[in-house]
This record gives sequence, structure tokens and C-alpha cells, in this order.
Amino acid sequence: MGTVESTGQTRLGVLVSGRGSNLQALIDAVSDGRVNGRIAVVLSNVAGVFALERAERAGIPTAVVDHRGWSSRDDFDRAVVAELQKHRVSLVCLAGFMRRLGKPVLQAFPDAVLNIHPSLLPSFPGLHPQRQALDHGSKLSGVTVHLVTEELDAGPILVQRPVPVLDDDTEDSLSARILAEEHVAYPAAVQTREPASSAFDRESRTSEVAGTTNGTRHQ
Ligand code: GRF
Repeated sequence: MGTVESTGQTRLGVLVSGRGSNLQALIDAVSDGRVNGRIAVVLSNVAGVFALERAERAGIPTAVVDHRGWSSRDDFDRAVVAELQKHRVSLVCLAGFMRRLGKPVLQAFPDAVLNIHPSLLPSFPGLHPQRQALDHGSKLSGVTVHLVTEELDAGPILVQRPVPVLDDDTEDSLSARILAEEHVAYPAAVQTREPASSAFDRESRTSEVAGTTNGTRHQ
């Protein structure tokens, strides 16, 4: 309802908690046309974070919904939904948002909440996935953008990009290499969810592996 502009543009709500480099990647992708959408609001659960400054610089409305002080998680979720609906959001992008969202958000935005996670899910869900990859001696990690479901980091995968783990990697060096791929993966995943794309089904998911989409080399 009132979620897609007459121009066919998706209205994105980007949820952040910190530095916002993935938000910046989405801002840049919207501005150079790789994403045919508009960021309707950037919502943070923490005031004063750099992501909010990035949004303000780009002229995007911002909102802060502090996660503290609610009597239940659902109440916090409902406040987030109200803010997103106020801005007529149709697609919700969690971009370094450090709170888990539950039923109230998932029911308000069915199949329309995306998350980015710095590992090749289902490997290394949860906290510190880069450290988990190093601790396991994994030779390959990467990034996953997936639909959010009630189970943590377990929803259907939209886009993945692999990143090798090098012998001398530290958590910082691996995180930095994965982050560069995150900034490519998130706009690509949003693109799969736009109205021009067919409704979500298994076949419409884009799998990016080693720079290929459905076996075809790109960029
Ligand atoms: C990214 O690594 C993202 O995958 C994870 O949190 C980090 C957020 O970074 N969920 P940024 O705030 O987008 O720079």
C-alpha cells in the first residue's frame, strides 16, 4: 500500500547501528542508477552514529528509535514498523543493524527484510563471523545477503560473494576484504527485489559466485 512510487521506484528503509559503509554503498548505487529505488529513511537504534551523518549529507530523512526502555522486544519492533510505514517503505535493508527483529517487523514487511552477513552462510552465523572463519581454518569466506526470517542468519539467500582467507589474515584484514565485497553484494541483492524483477521465487534469486551470475561472467 503506497509503497512503490508511480515511477516504479522501491522505497527503501535502511536500518543501521554504526559506521554505515553498507548504507553508503546503497546511497551510491541509488545515485548512479545501479539501484532503481530511493532511500526513504535511514533508521538507527543508536543516536549520533556516523551512518546518520552519511544519510544527512545525502539529504535522506533519518530517525532514531532507541532499543532501550521498551517493555518488550515486540514493542520496540512495532515502533520501528511505525517509523518505516510513516516513510512508506516497501523494502527494509538491515545494514549493520545490531538488533534482532521479530514477528511485528516480518509480518509488516513479508519477504521484504534483507540482511547482510560477512560470511558464506550457512557457515558462521551469529557474532564475529570473520573470527569464526579464522578459528576454523576456513580457506574461503565471503558475504551473504539474505531474507530475514525468525531464525538468526538462516533466511533464503539472495546474493553471495566469496572471499579467500589468506594464511596471514587477521580478523581486521579479512573483515576489510569481505567488506569490499559487501559493498557490491548489497546493491545487487536490492536489485533482485525491485518491482521490475519477478516476484520472489527460487528461480529469481541471484547467486553470485566468483563474479558470475547464473554462470555468466559480469563486470
Ligand atoms: C558489516 O560487516 C555487515 O556485514 C555486518 O556489520 C557490518 C556493518 O558495517 N552486519 P557498516 O556499518 O555497513 O560499515
